[in-house]
Amino acid sequence: MTQDWIARNPRARRDMAYGAEQRRVIDPDGVPGLLESLAACPVHKPTPLHSLPAMAAELGIGELRVKDESQRFGFGAFKALGGVYAVGMALARAVQAQLGRLPGLEELMRGAHRDVTARFTFATASSGNHGRSVAAGAKLFGARCVIFLPSFTSAEKEAAIRARGADVIRIDGDYEEAVDQCRRQSQANGWTIISDTSWDGYQDTPRDVMRGYTVLVEEVLRQWPAGPTHVFVQAGVGGLAAAVIGYLWARCTPRPQFIVVEPESADCWLQSNRAGRPALASGNADTAMGGLACREISPITWPVVGLGADWFMTITEDQVPPARKKLAQPHRGDPAIASGPSGCAGFAGLVRVCADPAAVAALQLGGSSRVLVINSEGNLGEGAA
Ligand SMILES: Cc1ncc(COP(=O)(O)O)c(C=O)c1O
Repeated sequence: MTQDWIARNPRARRDMAYGAEQRRVIDPDGVPGLLESLAACPVHKPTPLHSLPAMAAELGIGELRVKDESQRFGFGAFKALGGVYAVGMALARAVQAQLGRLPGLEELMRGAHRDVTARFTFATASSGNHGRSVAAGAKLFGARCVIFLPSFTSAEKEAAIRARGADVIRIDGDYEEAVDQCRRQSQANGWTIISDTSWDGYQDTPRDVMRGYTVLVEEVLRQWPAGPTHVFVQAGVGGLAAAVIGYLWARCTPRPQFIVVEPESADCWLQSNRAGRPALASGNADTAMGGLACREISPITWPVVGLGADWFMTITEDQVPPARKKLAQPHRGDPAIASGPSGCAGFAGLVRVCADPAAVAALQLGGSSRVLVINSEGNLGEGAA
């Protein structure tokens, strides 16, 4: 194909086994157990997996399912799974260092180890959703929390973070600058960073965050035993994509085709694919898809996303509103789905591909395809995530 908005991954081999290098990023073992322990939590229930037969017919594919994370914990985004779990695990490890045993998360929630846990202040940089999740986790486990927000994050998201008891520091800059400030101030103040992106020497917590996300993928497999043949997953730094690709790659034979979708101006995965190693986005990440507004990938995810995704593609800003409308105002009996700009990006990617015969042929999409997309956030009433 000659289109510059979509590129095959030259490293992906469909017969490549899910190996040790991948397991270090996304460990598929124990995820069903994690889901069982969540079931004990009163606000938890699996999010719906909607079937959209009329939309599938319109797009010329066999089946379309939308995992609707707008319903997650009444929180509005899949991010709820990652930050809360990672805060809990950071506290559990601190208790383990003193007592020699890893306490359960329920035990921590009950305040059983407050002598250890109350000393913690958690910090993170976020475009909004991850910050809300970390703030919720800190509140749940009784710890302090500071969230660094880039200038584009909406006032609604800032208010939602403050409502969870966190302090907010606004950065006059983009997401990467917020990450930078968060690292600097956390080091100076002894705060514990709960980042969804990784860097040299900082990998355990981003791994925990992604492990939290695998819960949604396990739910999909329980809700849809046949599973997908194609998955369109949106990427910011690549944590969600790693959880989705890694877990399905490990669990499904044959594994589905994975298509990673990004905003045109925040195409760090498309560029990394071209370079064959982590590379910067070609644009300035100025996008309405705030959750995807990242100029750099999370390097830890490379063995899964960089080697496992079959295709990388971008969408333009003007493809987002029509895609949101298609989901919100469906026809012929399909359920209506409220999505945010980042939330509908995977679906917008599918729509873009289906409008291009060469791309449809290259991805082998057709009447026998079963396609999964993830509505990663609901309509939170704004343009940024
Ligand atoms: C709604 C939404 N979707 C997708 C993503 C992308 O996740 P990741 O940065 O792990 O690739 C984010 C990240 O903040 C998000 O908020």
